[in-house]
Amino acid sequence: MIVKNIFGTTADGRAVDCYTLKNSSGMAVDIITYGATINSIYAADKDGVFADVLAGFDTIDGHENHSDYEGMTVGRYANRIANGKFSIDGIEYEVEKNEKGITCLHGGAELSTAVWKAIIIDDNSLEMSYTSPDGAMGFPGKVDFRVVFTLHEDNALKIEYNAVSDKKTVINMTNHAYFNLAGKGDVLGHELMINADAYTPIDENSIPTGEIRPVEGTPFDFRQSKAIGRDIAADDEQIKIGRGYDHNFCLNDGDGPAAVAYDPESGRVLEVFTDLCGVQLYTGNFLDGTITGKKGNPLIQHAGFCLETQYYPNTPNMPEFPQCTFDAGEKFKSCTVFKFSVK
Ligand code: GLA
Repeated sequence: MIVKNIFGTTADGRAVDCYTLKNSSGMAVDIITYGATINSIYAADKDGVFADVLAGFDTIDGHENHSDYEGMTVGRYANRIANGKFSIDGIEYEVEKNEKGITCLHGGAELSTAVWKAIIIDDNSLEMSYTSPDGAMGFPGKVDFRVVFTLHEDNALKIEYNAVSDKKTVINMTNHAYFNLAGKGDVLGHELMINADAYTPIDENSIPTGEIRPVEGTPFDFRQSKAIGRDIAADDEQIKIGRGYDHNFCLNDGDGPAAVAYDPESGRVLEVFTDLCGVQLYTGNFLDGTITGKKGNPLIQHAGFCLETQYYPNTPNMPEFPQCTFDAGEKFKSCTVFKFSVK
């Protein structure tokens, strides 16, 4: 079942709607048209009690003025592009340097601040679409974006990303939800598994150095499930740069989940499946309680963790990484599933 409600109005007068997807077991997902944002996910705990497992905002003002991409669809190039510059076929492009005037972060936040057009496809699926004009934020090509959210009966939320450009361009899309399976407090006690033998270390601007470093013997080894907080303050140069985890993991091939998170207290489990090669683990390191989130509660440090499925960051400047440059007319297509259960 999908129900539409009014969510609010942006400061510049754009109407924002909220669509609630609900399945027969009672799981519900709120998606708002501002940023094609997953605003809330209500999932059951081991006793059948539902809680909102996303940290974020319950007002449009929160999303517009205080957001660190909570729940948003980000693109057209998720993550960072070094110095806001890259070349395609010998043409250099300069894109928005919206992070400290140095890097381009999440495509200059264009997709996450747009009001998307929503269409209810059927009882379980909602389509959001947005067209980015040629040259938006400095990127080449007019791109038609289409994101389909489907809530399945087995408590899996599937996100299908589609994009096509009229010029050769770079496309990287993800969702920036901050999960908190307890629905409160911080996530340091959550256990996390990431199916990655390696990760991409970063420089002081959070740009990968190019090294693919084995996780073995480092705080980045999540191959066996461990508490997020166990090594988050380890004496490690990479942990210090990110003030915790803010890194891309190079996912191993295979059909199993890319990541599994578990909150021992509530029993909630989140499995993440993706066809992409990377995932950014960000543990809300820069949240510091000064911003008010849902229900008036402060967004404290580590209030949530993000598992942003993606191509590795800065690909157009890193030819050795798997590439996400698409020809005119070539289709960008990817799929990520967030599946909830209990144990
Ligand atoms: C964005 C990025 C994260 C992290 C934060 C820092 O949310 O997606 O990876 O770097 O900024 O505030």
